[in-house]
Amino acid sequence: MSREYNVGVLGATGAVGREMLKSLSDRGFPVKSLKALASSRSAGTTVEFEGKDIKVEETTEKSFAGLDIALFSAGGSASSTFAPIAAKSGCVVVDNSSCWRQDTRVPLIVPEVNPQAIKGHKGIIANPNCSTIQMLVALKPIYDAVGIKRIVVSTYQSVSGTGNKAIEELSEETRALFHSKEYTPKVYPHRIAFNCLPHIDSFTDNGYTKEEMKMVLETQKIFEDHNISISATCVRVPVFFCHSEAIWIETLEEISPEAARDLIAKAPGVLVEDEPQKNLYPLASSAAGREEVFVGRIRKDFSVKNGLCLWVVADNLKKGAATNAVEIAELLIRDPSLVATNWS
Ligand code: A2P
Repeated sequence: MSREYNVGVLGATGAVGREMLKSLSDRGFPVKSLKALASSRSAGTTVEFEGKDIKVEETTEKSFAGLDIALFSAGGSASSTFAPIAAKSGCVVVDNSSCWRQDTRVPLIVPEVNPQAIKGHKGIIANPNCSTIQMLVALKPIYDAVGIKRIVVSTYQSVSGTGNKAIEELSEETRALFHSKEYTPKVYPHRIAFNCLPHIDSFTDNGYTKEEMKMVLETQKIFEDHNISISATCVRVPVFFCHSEAIWIETLEEISPEAARDLIAKAPGVLVEDEPQKNLYPLASSAAGREEVFVGRIRKDFSVKNGLCLWVVADNLKKGAATNAVEIAELLIRDPSLVATNWS
């Protein structure tokens, strides 16, 4: 019989954590036992896994003993505290927070893009930012074929990326506005209903937000290419699920939109929807609940030499977070010698 694994999910009650449980089950990950971890706030409540109610436990230093793999999505502070503790106790961590992504000991993996980088991990593997993942899955075939020297991207990111409280905020605020009632935003600095906020994560000294700089630094790390130039504007929009992205690229060698479309259509994890005459292009409403990255509006950017434009949509809770994390775990168990840690 093939091996089964003791798996933990930290942040199991959260928007991403619940998707991680679903994704482990939907993808048939070989789970021997499942431990659902969160904070003391939800200890004792239950989450569902494969039709069974699993009791949520408060996360402590002892939570990881006996676990083989843990998927973390409980924010940077919990990851910074508990990932090294888990790794030292022999449990490989796949971490969805941004806290370990730029650590040189930690591989940053998109399985369709840089699976080779998982070898040599020490016990913590980082899951990239949702917006970076979907952009790179779409661009990888172009990057391999003709090289990319510059990327300009504008994102249209859904509120589920901020977690359960933001989903409630958009819903309650929308209802309040329709009923002419006051609503004071609690999660975002401004009203998100019927609005667009050019502000995701905090601002840095260079005028970009941390979210925008994640797209720059993570792209360079994943492509192992520090010459690629990236400029991002990340915008929160009043959409519940799925991030959309308008992307402009400059390639090193010329490629036609038709050739780019053929390459992208053959790439793993991507679905091309590109028949604008039939009003067919990727939409958040149709990508929600799907694991693929959807690409369309592939066309020439006439404003530069070797320019292409694309429109890329993916479910941020799935490919942007949970699915990618479970795919990393699948890469690990493909070579069971990788299900081991040497974090010091
Ligand atoms: P809890 O339900 O106990 O608050 P979301 O991204 O949807 O806001 O979810 C965040 C997830 O991370 C929740 O499962 C939350 O648990 C969990 N969490 C937040 N902080 C901690 C912490 N310090 N230790 C463990 N789990 C945490």
